[in-house]
Amino acid sequence: MATPHIGAEPGAFAPDVLMPGDPRRARRIAETVFDDAELVTEVRGMLGYTGTVEGRPVSVLASGMGLPSISIYATELFRFYGVERIIRIGTAGGMAPRLNVGDVVIAQSAHTDSAMTSLRVPGIHYSHSPSFALLSAAAAAGGVGAKPATGSGRRHRRAKTGKVHVGPVLSADAFYADRPETTATLVAMGTLAVEMEAAGLYAVADAEGGQALAICTISDLLFREESLPAEERELLFDRAVQLGLAAFAA
Ligand code: HPA
Repeated sequence: MATPHIGAEPGAFAPDVLMPGDPRRARRIAETVFDDAELVTEVRGMLGYTGTVEGRPVSVLASGMGLPSISIYATELFRFYGVERIIRIGTAGGMAPRLNVGDVVIAQSAHTDSAMTSLRVPGIHYSHSPSFALLSAAAAAGGVGAKPATGSGRRHRRAKTGKVHVGPVLSADAFYADRPETTATLVAMGTLAVEMEAAGLYAVADAEGGQALAICTISDLLFREESLPAEERELLFDRAVQLGLAAFAA
């Protein structure tokens, strides 16, 4: 039986699901990364596909924007479709000055100003955190914590864009909110980037007994006028997809 927001039969999704915000990105992942991709749902244009990658079944479903939207799709996947692991593949705005567009942030925790998760455990400021297994696998795939190769006498150089960071993000309710003091305080307390879904996904995974992770490509910066050109955006976005797939396969 289909759920209110997903028009697929039980068994239509693989246990592992990649979750971009944008339905066109879901289609792009299915068409360019999956083998034998099959469209399994398109309710409200929120496209979902199931296929394989190197022989492993995997699905992709778009989440839409914001905690309420991703919470609906993640809940229905975990509760009604037997999904076990969801990795959000998103974009985020860089908050910490050491970030560049094209970098990747793996969300080790997610602060939020959303009321959504405060309703789950009244009186508690809930800690939104990912699956440690997925987090550590994605970080390892991204080379985080790896020692530079020895012997060459030269320091390992990374590309100007595309450094992988692991740390806290802010999952904000409002995209158009100008709150420089809040941003400055969060940055001083170690927050790397702002997006709009990770905290919702992490809370749903905890509530439903699933595992989750958010891997975000930095598409723009809060402290400097800079954003990724569309084509480069897609290429760098593919890197986050590969980190997600590597975490599933680990
Ligand atoms: N804010 C919130 N979400 C985002 C941003 C941002 O600046 N950039 C990409 N996703």
